[in-house]
Amino acid sequence: MIQLYWKNATDRVIPAEHGVTAKDLEGTDAAIRAAHAAVMEQANSGRLGYAALPTNTQYRAQVRELVDRYRANTTDLVVLGIGGSALGSIALQAALNGPTYNLLSGARRAGPRLFVLDNVDPSLVGDTLSLLGRRLKTALFNVISKSGETAETAAQFMIVRQMLQKKLGTAYSQRIVATTDPAKGTLHDIAAAEGYATLPVPDDVGGRFSILTPVGLFSAAMCGIDIDALLAGAAAMKQRTEYPAWRENPACMLAAIKFLAFTAKGKVTHVMMPYSNRLYLLADWYRQLWAESLGKKTGRTGREVFTGPTPIKALGATDQHSQVQLYREGPNDKLVIFLEVGRHPREIRIPDAFGDVPGLAYLAKARLGKLLNAEKAATEYALAASGRPSVTLRFNSITPQSVGEFIYLYEFTTSLMGELLDINAYDQPAVELGKQATFALMGKEGFTELAKEIRPFATPDPRYLI
Ligand code: PA5
Repeated sequence: MIQLYWKNATDRVIPAEHGVTAKDLEGTDAAIRAAHAAVMEQANSGRLGYAALPTNTQYRAQVRELVDRYRANTTDLVVLGIGGSALGSIALQAALNGPTYNLLSGARRAGPRLFVLDNVDPSLVGDTLSLLGRRLKTALFNVISKSGETAETAAQFMIVRQMLQKKLGTAYSQRIVATTDPAKGTLHDIAAAEGYATLPVPDDVGGRFSILTPVGLFSAAMCGIDIDALLAGAAAMKQRTEYPAWRENPACMLAAIKFLAFTAKGKVTHVMMPYSNRLYLLADWYRQLWAESLGKKTGRTGREVFTGPTPIKALGATDQHSQVQLYREGPNDKLVIFLEVGRHPREIRIPDAFGDVPGLAYLAKARLGKLLNAEKAATEYALAASGRPSVTLRFNSITPQSVGEFIYLYEFTTSLMGELLDINAYDQPAVELGKQATFALMGKEGFTELAKEIRPFATPDPRYLI
């Protein structure tokens, strides 16, 4: 069970100017209760799409059917997608299969190698496709786009489709799985016309909340991740988030601390800092969830609010040697969210190689996991000593169950924060202009006027070029 430890964000440890006080918590009691009641009402009335996912059996059956069809005959699974259509696959794979999965021999891997192309960087796309080489015939491409028209995904898909057609002739369509809106959209129409296998992205689940839909589940299940356990973990956390006594409810307490830190203590930056390489890419998933959901210009009443804590990530212990100087002595504007692992997936004992060297003897026979966790505790202490708040989310171990718990916890906390900040956490209007400007610069029909407007920005002014 994931646990939240929040004492180091309070005035029991750091000055009240920076730490949450009992009075602060008292003062926010009514707001938290109201936020919790509102989110629960949305969930219970079926208006919070992601809340139904932990117990949805239809999606896992659809995923399992395709896994049964493809797993044995697929050497490489390539996900084409971006944002919410990619970050879930990346995070699950990194957390649950680890960094060396793709390098293992076929016998030692639980499924195909996994590549997630979440950018149109020609080097990333070209190098990955070249690497497939002769394995292209046994590669499977999972193109994921809820809207079905995202430029980056569409561009990759067009490249891949042509490659497959050249290599496989008409059989190319057997090596594509399209995950998209089940009823409409450009990708849906192409998939239907060309006969691809398809998986649905539910209409009522936004991209950044879609990790527990076939968007994240298919690649995970293909690579041997126990998606039942993942969903069971999410379901277990869902139960904990329903608990009405909010001080005993981890999502409510996390939201209360984050809200107070942001609005009353000037902690405008929320740093997620896992002490685990496996959990580092979950922090990327968190960054998108937090940034797109909470970074808003307009409140629900139409008032301009320009709100949202900035989510960033750091890796312990690596970034102790890069970021912590700033976190301790720079502006006191950060709340650190540590992710700590009780039992690491592997343990290694340091040999007693230099028992007589005073500077190194203390390391002899210690476990690396113990060293890593000691570094976390040391950083937590060092931050507190400088009056910097932190909270810890503690994973007993990294399992599909605990990762599922983490995912649901953060989704629900995001919903609560949306309520507390009185903003719509489920739209992303500011992403649109950039998408449209790209269409205009790439000559898409219907965007000629915008293209004229953008041209001066897209053409460097030589007077400012040195
Ligand atoms: O969270 C979101 O809504 C976005 O990040 C989308 O997931 C991203 O833009 C990709 O969109 P689509 O799945 O429609 O291609």
